[in-house]
Amino acid sequence: MDEEGISLLACARCRGSLASTKRTCECMECGVRFDCGDFIDMLDATTTPEPTTMDQRIAESTLYARLYEKWWRPWFVRFTSGNDSNLLTGGFGSEYFVHKQSLGLDHIDGPWLDLSCGTGLFTRGIASSCPSQSVIGVDISIPMLEAAHAKNRAYDNVTLLRADAHELPLKSGVFSGVNNAGALHAYRAPEDVFREVRRVLRSGGVYVGSAFLQSSSFVRRRLASLVGIRTFDQRELAGWLSRVGFRDYEEAIFGDIIIFKVRKP
Ligand SMILES: C[S@@+](CC[C@H](N)C(=O)[O-])C[C@H]1O[C@@H](n2cnc3c(N)ncnc32)[C@H](O)[C@@H]1O
Ligand SMILES: [Zn+2]
Repeated sequence: MDEEGISLLACARCRGSLASTKRTCECMECGVRFDCGDFIDMLDATTTPEPTTMDQRIAESTLYARLYEKWWRPWFVRFTSGNDSNLLTGGFGSEYFVHKQSLGLDHIDGPWLDLSCGTGLFTRGIASSCPSQSVIGVDISIPMLEAAHAKNRAYDNVTLLRADAHELPLKSGVFSGVNNAGALHAYRAPEDVFREVRRVLRSGGVYVGSAFLQSSSFVRRRLASLVGIRTFDQRELAGWLSRVGFRDYEEAIFGDIIIFKVRKP
């Protein structure tokens, strides 16, 4: 287990620091123990929120987790980025390039948070770009984290954590950057997540996320509303981020996908 990674976590009950053994993490303040098999689970039956959209119910199924990286994600990114898909989807590599440059992985030291990491596609990318720095991958879905664990075994600088993005069991002011790809549409209250992201970033830290814009295509609008995918207006997004206290908003748009970057002052 990555000891530096563990030092970035805060007990879900009392926010105290954790100490880890092989199979459990124990809070040094209140003594509560969290299971840490494939990932550290900071949610239990009482604190796990019910999925509110069909999309999130699907994201919590084993079948989706199995098909996600190879089939669903590449198809969905190509579908939503439309005519710009060549720009964005020279495979995952070109999408990762935009996130990597925006986070500044080549010239800033971590630690890094991959929020709503899913099967850990970006988590692995960041872990291999920054092999001596800690990367925390957080998601709420057990099957997605199990898939992430299976694919992340080679990286000893990754800590996987099951938690709700609206209430992150992480220390304040510690991360150099937060990556948050393709998950805003699934959150109950994105503005609360923005506040949590701001809290865990250090001053000067960057937040890079991607989201789906309201589409001009009838088919894409219809599909999004059928599966409960929330879409955003770019001015609304920029306004929210600024209200929460982020600065230096930048964006890049590929079809219906927006990748944004902001900084905590
Ligand atoms: C479309 S996937 C994106 C995964 C990954 N970032 C990627 O780009 O491949 C959205 C992820 O958000 C996660 N998610 C949804 N609601 C969440 C919440 N409240 N807290 C943490 N993760 C959440 C889902 O479980 C799912 O794995
Ligand atoms: Zn505690």
